[in-house]
Amino acid sequence: MLDLSIEPISSLLRARRAGYTLPAGLYTRPDAYEADVEVIFHRHWIAAGVEADVPEPGDVYALDIGRSSIVILRDDDGIVRAFHNVCSHRGAKLLDPGPGTVGRLVCPYHQWVYELSGELMDAPHMGADFDKGLGHLRPVNLRSIGGLLYVCLSDTPPEDIEDLAAVMEPRLAAYDLANAKVAFETDLVEHGNWKLTMENNRECYHCTANHPELCVSFVHYDFGYDPEGLTPDEAEEAKAHAERYATQSADWEAQGFPSSAVERGPGHATNFRTQRLIIAGPGESQTPDGRAASSKLLGGMTRKDTGDVHLWGNNSWNHVMADHAVIFACYPLAAGRTLVRTKWLVHKDAVEGQDYDLETLTAIWKATNDQDAALVARAQAGAESIGYRPGPYSTFTEGTLDDFTTWYVERMTANGY
Ligand code: FES
Ligand SMILES: [Fe+2]
Repeated sequence: MLDLSIEPISSLLRARRAGYTLPAGLYTRPDAYEADVEVIFHRHWIAAGVEADVPEPGDVYALDIGRSSIVILRDDDGIVRAFHNVCSHRGAKLLDPGPGTVGRLVCPYHQWVYELSGELMDAPHMGADFDKGLGHLRPVNLRSIGGLLYVCLSDTPPEDIEDLAAVMEPRLAAYDLANAKVAFETDLVEHGNWKLTMENNRECYHCTANHPELCVSFVHYDFGYDPEGLTPDEAEEAKAHAERYATQSADWEAQGFPSSAVERGPGHATNFRTQRLIIAGPGESQTPDGRAASSKLLGGMTRKDTGDVHLWGNNSWNHVMADHAVIFACYPLAAGRTLVRTKWLVHKDAVEGQDYDLETLTAIWKATNDQDAALVARAQAGAESIGYRPGPYSTFTEGTLDDFTTWYVERMTANGY
């Protein structure tokens, strides 16, 4: 007889073996998607955008996160704020997702009017005795870390966001991303679970075979290798590469560019990893020829050879180079569908067609994102199959994935699953 009983999410989480991918249901089941939204996306710090999304007072940016929605805005005093995108009257969603510019926030339903501070200004036909103070929009916890915006929808956000800020603010300061401009933005819906999206971007085991464009600027040995599997020539190359890293990192550090690897994995609510990576070839930027795409460098940068400050987090990954930054975040839409939002940032005064060519700026990651989307869809298709069994991560190239799935299981179980 068919066994139609459904294993609880908690059993799937406990069934996960260290060193292996997750049980299929955690990638495929709608209830696992709901649980992820509730725990990871509603109770943890989530990358939500950049200050450059709202460069001027009155600029708004609405973002759906799971079943919730927030609005990020810059108020009349230039302060970036975040609120739940929910009217205090009968709960209508105030703004549709995406950017806009407003004088005040006006609910389309019954025209309640809010200041950009969130204060309720006008509530027609509610009577003289109505206390408008009760109608203030509900704030959302927001942190700008070097111009990158993180939100937490919980009223008790994890405190270790301070650790991310302490590590990243000095690393990002010279780039002044808070005053950059978004030169280009794409939305891509990957046909895979958000955790497969995250796992895919945390390893470069797949890069050589799948990312010819990206590999021009990536250094092959950066992403781990089995030392026993190298030919003598490759072993020499790997050794030279390690020595080059040590020298280059010491040089950068001496010039005031923090470069060492910092990692917060399992055991932390806010997971992240950062390191200043060497860019291959001319060493300037992730472009088709490895040279800077924008002649106007970010912030106060005066040299182009400062590598790639990579940073990944709970739902995001970033590459910050002297001339531009590429900021990625993912948001789950369903068990098998994930929105990947990518933003290319340049100096706010850089002029398209003059200081940079948009195609050169975006070519690498547009191609890479499409390739990654196909890989994630392929991984999801396998996870949906009855033939799927959790598979082993490579200890040499996929240890960071083991960390990610371990972190995920820990966070879920720590939050009641
Ligand atoms: S629900 Fe917004 S004004 Fe009524
Ligand atoms: Fe990739």
